[in-house]
Amino acid sequence: MGKISVGILGATGAIGEMYRKLLSFHPHFQVRFMSASKQKIGDSLDGLGLENVEDIYKAKQLGVELVFSCLDTQTALIMEPLWGETSLVISSSSAFRDRNRLILPEINGGKVLGRTKGIFAKSNCTLHPIALILKELIAFEIVHATATTLQAVSGAGRQGLAAIDVLDNVIPFIEGEEEKILEELHILFEQNIPLNITCCRVPVYDGHMVSLEVQLKKPFIVDEIHHALKKVPWIEILEQKDRPQPRLDKDRGNGMHVCVGRIRKGANNTVQLVALTHNRVRGAAGTGIKIAEIAYGFTQPGA
Ligand SMILES: NC(=O)c1ccc[n+]([C@@H]2O[C@H](COP(=O)([O-])OP(=O)(O)OC[C@H]3O[C@@H](n4cnc5c(N)ncnc54)[C@H](OP(=O)(O)O)[C@@H]3O)[C@@H](O)[C@H]2O)c1
Repeated sequence: MGKISVGILGATGAIGEMYRKLLSFHPHFQVRFMSASKQKIGDSLDGLGLENVEDIYKAKQLGVELVFSCLDTQTALIMEPLWGETSLVISSSSAFRDRNRLILPEINGGKVLGRTKGIFAKSNCTLHPIALILKELIAFEIVHATATTLQAVSGAGRQGLAAIDVLDNVIPFIEGEEEKILEELHILFEQNIPLNITCCRVPVYDGHMVSLEVQLKKPFIVDEIHHALKKVPWIEILEQKDRPQPRLDKDRGNGMHVCVGRIRKGANNTVQLVALTHNRVRGAAGTGIKIAEIAYGFTQPGA
């Protein structure tokens, strides 16, 4: 069987670049169509000419049936429904993260199984470590959780932040990020998990870190939390006292692992820990590809 022809919308951005890298050695998917903004149409990238994002007809002629969208939200709102009429669109943007289309594959990946068209949106990049850890703590009855994030600059995209604003600095605000995380957490778990969250931008290139504190109802010892997290294939516990660190650990599990360290017990039956994920792999392109693999039956939902 030949490879499935895919398109990347927004191939020149921070996430498009990661899709190109990961798809360059994918066993089942082959990139045949790439788009960028109007100024770059015709430029050459990885041996293909950059196309107009509106040229769905050209993509169809090339046999494209699967599309990874890395567009900004405003462009995605217009373009993704048009592509979704005839193709399966896996979106990195927040344009369509609603109850029917929001996917975090290890939680609700079964939704895409066998789908050949329509839009599915991977969840917010920073939500991945938070949701995947909270999922394992539900058995201990969560009273409430508090998260403080330290998010990499690549999370803001190519045009995101001027170096002069972020170098030697921490910016304790990311427009709309806290709201998205709370809303998507609620959609994913179909229940209200009380979460207080503060999102900060830090001068790290790739790798979002989260300090997470979760008050539990059930009394626990740290070993039980350790055990509950350790059995999950996509969670990797780092035993060294000063890990995880973005520079050293973001690529673990080919960038798909949630790296967890500093698991300890705090006041009032609270578990405290630090988690790290690669925002452009686990938080975007790696997960987008995993969603597509589930749709085509190459990967099992929840695997
Ligand atoms: N960065 C992350 O870590 C991350 C993580 C999760 C989700 N996301 C989401 O993923 C999406 C892409 O993020 P990014 O960081 O890759 O953004 P980015 O670096 O700004 O890239 C945006 C892409 O969209 C293209 N584009 C912009 N305006 C366009 C238009 N009017 N028509 C057609 N194409 C247009 C750009 O082309 P040009 O190069 O020609 O401008 C570029 O290829 C966003 O929705 C973002 O919120 C990002």
